[in-house]
Amino acid sequence: MNLAGKRILLGITGGIAAYKCPDLIRQLKKKGADVRVVMTESATHFVTPMTLQAVSAHHVVNDLFDPTAELSMSHIELAKWADLVLIAPATANIIAKLACGLADDLLSTLCLATPEPIAIAPAMNQQMYKAKVTQQNLARLAERNVLIWGPDKGFQACGDIGPGRMVEPATLAVNIEDYFTTSNALAGMTITVTAGPTIEELDPVRYISNYSSGKMGFAIANAAAEMGAKVVLIAGPVHLDTPANVERINVKTAQEMYNAAIQQAQQSTIFIACAAVADYRAATIAKQKIKKQDNNNEIVITLVKNPDIVASVASLKKDRPFVVGFAAESHNIEAYALKKLITKNLDLICANDISNQQIGFNADQNALTLYWQHSITANEKKSEQETLPLCNKQILAKQLIKKIIQRYKASQNEKKN
Ligand code: C5P
Repeated sequence: MNLAGKRILLGITGGIAAYKCPDLIRQLKKKGADVRVVMTESATHFVTPMTLQAVSAHHVVNDLFDPTAELSMSHIELAKWADLVLIAPATANIIAKLACGLADDLLSTLCLATPEPIAIAPAMNQQMYKAKVTQQNLARLAERNVLIWGPDKGFQACGDIGPGRMVEPATLAVNIEDYFTTSNALAGMTITVTAGPTIEELDPVRYISNYSSGKMGFAIANAAAEMGAKVVLIAGPVHLDTPANVERINVKTAQEMYNAAIQQAQQSTIFIACAAVADYRAATIAKQKIKKQDNNNEIVITLVKNPDIVASVASLKKDRPFVVGFAAESHNIEAYALKKLITKNLDLICANDISNQQIGFNADQNALTLYWQHSITANEKKSEQETLPLCNKQILAKQLIKKIIQRYKASQNEKKN
């Protein structure tokens, strides 16, 4: 009964996935929530108000100007009643209306009138979902801290295959539970995350870099901010929007990332090094474009080692944060990860297998094996292992943050004892 006493206002809009809403309400009520339903006119074509009234045990409303409904609970009271508003399914239309702040029916009016968080479960045809304007609207909502759950990918009612399926009711129920248990769990903590690649210039037009997309680091920053931490994201050059409530420091080179990280680290509770930092940079950056040489098939560029950012943070003597590193490995994963855990003196290392194309660099999904160390005695350390199975990077990031916090708290207790 993790949702005992929680009041969920379920907004249903006109998508075929609305037929799943009675099941969603049943699952939320089973967890102890009180659920009231507001429908748009279109939604009534997919599921009947009578069915929803029967499962929610409340009168279902869809009219902004319904005098009887206003008498029992006005739309403003209803907006204040909720602890969370969930719109599922959320069509492209309601997403566009919320993005613009329209209030031309009961549901959109409630969304403007509520001071409480709003979550949406987008559901629509894959092309409508991919449409630039829908993506821009979603980005605007994310910026305003609207929680966006899904969509899932797969077969669609219209026959298409792609992203646009509503996240299943069981997952939505778990997301709501997670939201209430984790929001504000990290209040008072500062978490610094490095993300993305670095680039190392060779001349005014060329550089050395890698395929890191920054998605994992950005997902981690987002998850930590959603849980109430103050988050500083030190990002290499990537094409990703800054997650809501995250302070972003843009850097290009490993040296710039190092400078920013060292400055932030001592004010941080936890430091998470997710960036794919270039190990080497050019010994000298040519002032002018390096020209092709007609009579020479080879040229030599001397590279020098970059500072190891995470190892430098982990070796801080004063105000050392809890330090988490990543190990992207293509083989011998455990051996290499453990070596890094020990040589870089990390508290935790998260290893992923980049030989598997489904996960890791540039993919939307990832799986991690966590190796962490803790003291048995003052001189002896022990490492333990745990697996976070393959899933979407956003979800994985939330699971990872929870694990990191558990370990961090355990390490604080160890220090006290
Ligand atoms: O040694 P390797 O690059 O494989 O280690 C990976 C881990 O070390 C990652 O957490 C990465 O962010 C961090 N790292 C770093 N500075 C470097 C190289 C790696 O912080 N110069």
